[in-house]
Amino acid sequence: TNSLPVYSREEVTKHCSIEKGIWVTYKGGVYDITDFVAIHPGGDKILLAAGKSLEPFWALYAVHEQEHILEILSEYKVGVL
Ligand code: HEM
Repeated sequence: TNSLPVYSREEVTKHCSIEKGIWVTYKGGVYDITDFVAIHPGGDKILLAAGKSLEPFWALYAVHEQEHILEILSEYKVGVL
């Protein structure tokens, strides 16, 4: 089937640099956003969430509460927690 790999939070935490890849989590999904970082409309701020959960940051920047942003995110899904 097409089930995605399961990653631990510890594994996600290791992906916090361009060299190792930038991963984030959102609602149980794991996303490799390395290629999105350079085109993020909010610039380098996105790096604050590297290796972490997006939720606390998106709670502060409510601009992300839009359906099309979840569509962008879904393109980068690589696994589940
Ligand atoms: C704006 C996507 C993570 C901070 C935006 C916009 C998109 C976007 C599409 C433009 C929204 C609009 O103008 O309608 C994403 C995606 C993320 C992500 C897909 C994760 C993969 C973050 C994080 C932060 C952040 C973690 C902060 C720590 C901002 C800010 C803006 C913004 C401040 C507003 C820029 C401006 O209009 O001046 N983001 N974002 N973003 N983002 Fe993100």
